[in-house]
Amino acid sequence: MTLVSWVLLGMPAWSAEVETIDWPSIPEASPRLFYPGQSSHEWLRTEDHKKASNEVKAGEACLECHKGEQKSLGGILVVENRLEPDPIENKDGYKRLKVRAAHDATHLYLRFSWKSDGEGAGDQGNYMRFDGSQWDWYGNHRQHEAVIDDGQPAIYPDRLGIMMGDGQVPLYSEQGCWLTCHEAMVSMPEEADEDDVAEHPVISQLYKAFGITNRYVRKYLPGSRTEGTDWDAVKTVDELKTLRNQGRFLDLIIWDAALTNPGGFAADFNVLEMKQVDAGNSALLPNGKMLGGPEYMFDADKVGFRVLTEADLVVAGKPKHLLLGATATAISGSFEEGDILPAHIIDRGAAEGSAADVDYARGEWREGTYTLTLRRKLDTGHPQDDLIMHPGGIYTFGFSIHDDASGKRAHHVSFPVTLSIGPGNADIQAVTLQ
Ligand code: HEC
Repeated sequence: MTLVSWVLLGMPAWSAEVETIDWPSIPEASPRLFYPGQSSHEWLRTEDHKKASNEVKAGEACLECHKGEQKSLGGILVVENRLEPDPIENKDGYKRLKVRAAHDATHLYLRFSWKSDGEGAGDQGNYMRFDGSQWDWYGNHRQHEAVIDDGQPAIYPDRLGIMMGDGQVPLYSEQGCWLTCHEAMVSMPEEADEDDVAEHPVISQLYKAFGITNRYVRKYLPGSRTEGTDWDAVKTVDELKTLRNQGRFLDLIIWDAALTNPGGFAADFNVLEMKQVDAGNSALLPNGKMLGGPEYMFDADKVGFRVLTEADLVVAGKPKHLLLGATATAISGSFEEGDILPAHIIDRGAAEGSAADVDYARGEWREGTYTLTLRRKLDTGHPQDDLIMHPGGIYTFGFSIHDDASGKRAHHVSFPVTLSIGPGNADIQAVTLQ
């Protein structure tokens, strides 16, 4: 589309159409991701992190010492070792993520591609299964007890995480995602007791506000704690508000092949006292009150069936997502043992505010490789929970990939990667579109 027609349409004159970006003409960066095991913020500061604990405490960058070591670190950490008590058999310890970036006056556009392990696309999320009298969870990540002990299938979404920050967050540009990973988190050595989390004066309020029923300790920044980095030493609500006003938090986009991609968006989180969804409303919603039973089922008039069965879950191409206004309808009628419904629904019409900032995300899995394009405004207008970017700025990104039905810490992560909006001294340079 030409400049003139943009103006005639009343659109911003300088705005690229995401579908028409000539991606092959844009240079490709390929950050190295590796399996981190339980290398938490705290572990990195112990004597076990040989001859490096003092340097890490003093703020030295991981890459000062570990440049080019990602593949060997991943290889060591992915099999049983001092930082991995529960390895996944045959998991690869290393992965390259290909990234291209572009921007115009309003948006940052990102194109990713990566090889994904697993037999097919990991495009299914949690389900609920009717056992004849009630609904129960069905399917989980491959190290979950329901899968290992109860014989449920290993079904879990493939995901790409994009953590973003700037110099406002101390040490983020040097130590990246490791700032947010702590011993008390789920699947880490000192996993906090869920009852203690439920009783914590600040953190429990967040769980209530977001309607989250499993009370794990989620990612948090050291700056949100009073002293040390203990999960429960949280600053006061007023102090946290001041940190937000100063931009001392991280922005986190999570694209999910099962839970967001079918709706063409990605979820927008932020990390300060706890990883939480941005303000407003996400298009991703629980299907009913979880174990109270689902509120939506498939619309037989549109897709030809009301529910899925176990056998359907392995049929490629069978609709498996409940999209309001498309595949879903309100629940009605009775159910039989073995009936299965997705535990989440997607309602694009409900999306609003900061939670809806990543309003375009299209990923495709083909023969083991994902290609994903997404966009996000440079200045989202939500400085309380987003990183505000500007042309000429350089920001720090951290990437993570979950695949092959893995959950929790069983992901691949990158050391910090820099991205410039326009030409700049950065690992990834977002090309300025004319
Ligand atoms: C001052 C140099 C230095 C810095 C800075 C540093 N490390 Fe290390 N790191 C080391 C050394 C030395 C080892 C020990 C290697 C060995 O045991 O063979 C190590 C080991 C590790 C290991 C364990 C590997 C194994 O063999 O078990 C991990 C994981 C790790 N570092 C991650 C990090 C991360 C993440 C950062 C940034 C937050 C970081 N390191 C910063 C020097 C450093």
